This record gives sequence, structure tokens and C-alpha cells, in this order.
Amino acid sequence: MSIISVHNLSKKFGDITAVDDLNLEVKKGEVLGFLGPNGAGKTTTIRMLAGIIAPTSGYAEIAGQRTDGNIERLHEVIGLLTETPALYDRLTAERNLKYFAGFYPIVGITPQVEKYLRLMGLWERRKNRAGTFSKGMKQRLALARALLHEPQVLFLDEPTSGLDPEAAQEVREMVKNLSSQGRTIFLSTHNLTEAEQLCHRIAVIRTKLLVLDTSENLRNRFFRQEVNIRLENPSITIINAVKRLDFVDDVEEKDNRLIVRLTEPDKNHPELVKEIVDAGGRILGVSEAEHHLEEIYLKLIREEKENGI
Ligand SMILES: Nc1ncnc2c1ncn2[C@@H]1O[C@H](COP(=O)(O)OP(=O)(O)OP(=O)(O)O)[C@@H](O)[C@H]1O
Ligand SMILES: [Mg+2]
Repeated sequence: MSIISVHNLSKKFGDITAVDDLNLEVKKGEVLGFLGPNGAGKTTTIRMLAGIIAPTSGYAEIAGQRTDGNIERLHEVIGLLTETPALYDRLTAERNLKYFAGFYPIVGITPQVEKYLRLMGLWERRKNRAGTFSKGMKQRLALARALLHEPQVLFLDEPTSGLDPEAAQEVREMVKNLSSQGRTIFLSTHNLTEAEQLCHRIAVIRTKLLVLDTSENLRNRFFRQEVNIRLENPSITIINAVKRLDFVDDVEEKDNRLIVRLTEPDKNHPELVKEIVDAGGRILGVSEAEHHLEEIYLKLIREEKENGI
């Protein structure tokens, strides 16, 4: 069941189309990675979904609340972490959270604020002004702010950008925890390793939605899977024998290895190995070539640029 449904969502700023006819569904409990180059429309999309700005056309429904409906009720079901966390520098961490908690129908603000200060490791620093916090601490405070009213859906716009590796890892762990509690997370990021680690599915946007799938499916779709075969005795006879197989798309030889592109990798492995052995090849090892999300992403963005969509 979808907890987020986006219907023909578009946003124009004057002549600039920031988001063009976006349609997507996010399932309850899913972490969706929202990727795209600078200016692709990620923040604009999140701001529309969170009811901060109005779309030019289209709408979304989030946990039963429509973006063109009662915005207060929409805000009750979502939590938002923006690119630049809005906190009052001159208020203490605790005062900040109590202040923002006042906007929601929260029963027991004090224990709720304590819960999230502790969860974010800020309890000891609760009496310090937010303005004196490091970037990572501010980010954790902003995340606490986004969670105070226990929203079912969280929008995180580049939650780890500008954080040191340790602070970024802490935020990622937090995202994993929230996801394991069954919350739905819509996460924009430029960190592709992060997206691959955290997200069940990946959406790539460049004004229009380019793809939306699991990273595994994207890998299969963008790279006909390759197998690496390490040989003791590579020869032209072996290469030609492999090339003749109808399920082989391409063969390349490199440092005593054959890199073979197959149409259906799992199915074709045994026959491929048999053919090499029959042709006199002595196999030292067989492994699948790994492609990271980064390669897929770059390929996709490049292809899309060339096609000039
Ligand atoms: N308030 C605004 N007024 C005019 N143009 C805007 C406004 N907000 C965004 N845009 C334009 O909309 C496009 C999309 O911007 P957006 O901030 O959504 O991109 P993004 O994908 O979040 O990029 P980044 O990765 O840099 O954060 C850009 O061309 C931007 O200049
Ligand atoms: Mg942005």
C-alpha cells in the first residue's frame, strides 16, 4: 500500500520548469532515495510534498492527507529536515524543541522533548544555545525537531551533507533505526553509497523522473551483467569459442582475464564455463563484475544529456 502517491506534480518558477509531471508511489516503511544533479528539482519536490510551496499543477497524497487539502493536518503526518535547518540560534536546544513542539498536538511535550534529546545524544547539551552547536549537532537537533510529533513520513533533504564522516554515519544509523520502526523516509542525497546502503528503491530526477527502481534492478538494466573469468592460458581459440556462444554479447581480454557480457548471467554461467574448459581453458576463478550505483547514475545522467530529453 502506498503511503505517498504523487500525481502529475509540476512546479514552474517563471519560465523555469523545476519539476515536470512527477508521478511516483512510495510504500509504507520504504526508504526512497531521491537523486539528481544540482538544480534537478529535488528540494522543490520535497517542499511541495511537505506543503511548504504550492505546486503549479498536480498534487500528492501523503498518509491520507492531500497537499491541496488541509495543510495543518498534512504537517501532522510528516516530518521535514530541510537543507538548512531552521533553528533559533539564541535559544537552547531544549527551548528550540519545546517551541516547535508547540505547533503540534503533542501530549506531554516535556517527556517527548527529553526522548528526542536523548535519542540524538544531545541531552547533556540541552541547556546550550543552538548557535553554539557544531554542524553535526545542529543536524541532530533539526532531526529531533522533525520527529517530535512522531510523523509517519519523513522528508530528509540531504541530511548528511556537510557532516564529517562520523557525524554522517550517525545520521545514517538514525535513518536506519527510523526505518526499522516502520516509518517511511523520502531522502534526497548526492551520496550514492549512502543511497545504496539506506534506500530500498532509488529515484533519479532531472526535472522529470528518469528512473525509479531498486539498485539491483537498475544495475541489471544499465549493465548487461559481466562475468570475470581468470584464466591460466587465455588464447584466441578460447576467446573465439566464447564469442560463438549465442548468449554472449561481448568478450574482452585484460590481464589474463576474460570479461564476458552475458544476456542472462545466472542462467548462462555453467554453459560458459563448460565451453571454456572444452576449448582447453584452465580456469583459475570466476567472479561477477561489480557495478556501483555511482556508475549507473553517471551513465544515466550522461545518456539523458546526450538524448537531450
Ligand atoms: N524560489 C525559487 N525561485 C526561482 N527558482 C527556483 C526557486 N527554487 C528553486 N528554483 C529553481 O528550480 C530548479 C530546481 O531547484 P532545486 O533547489 O529544487 O534543485 P535541487 O535538485 O534541490 O538541487 P541541489 O542538489 O543543488 O540542492 C533550479 O533551476 C532552481 O534555480
Ligand atoms: Mg536541493
